[in-house]
Amino acid sequence: MDLPIKEDIWHRIMKSDKLKSGKKKMKTIGLRSIMVLRDNEGLRATDALCRHMAWPLAYGGKVEDGCITCPLHKTKYDLENGQVKEWSPFPLFPLYGKIVGKMRKQSPLGIHKVRELDGWIEVLLND
Ligand code: FES
Repeated sequence: MDLPIKEDIWHRIMKSDKLKSGKKKMKTIGLRSIMVLRDNEGLRATDALCRHMAWPLAYGGKVEDGCITCPLHKTKYDLENGQVKEWSPFPLFPLYGKIVGKMRKQSPLGIHKVRELDGWIEVLLND
């Protein structure tokens, strides 16, 4: 018996011209919250919530050198692969950031495929 082949499902989430360079938007696909952003590398799509304590990264996340840094405790993720570069380092003194960092196990940010087609931004979820 042949197993059905899972098809890629691209989700149209917004018009391309609604996302200017340097901007981020939070969107939902079903029950999943994602963030799309446009930087000087192009378009990117990630999970919307910081893996540390679920802050929405579209609100205050700083994009720099191919990474995004959460504004709350400065957890930093690589936007190419979602890997953690720094886990809850803020604030350094007192060692509050490190203590709060231990409240949740370190884990990478989900990265999704994204494309522009016919004036729309489309996302292919990673699972
Ligand atoms: S919620 Fe993002 S670093 Fe703590």
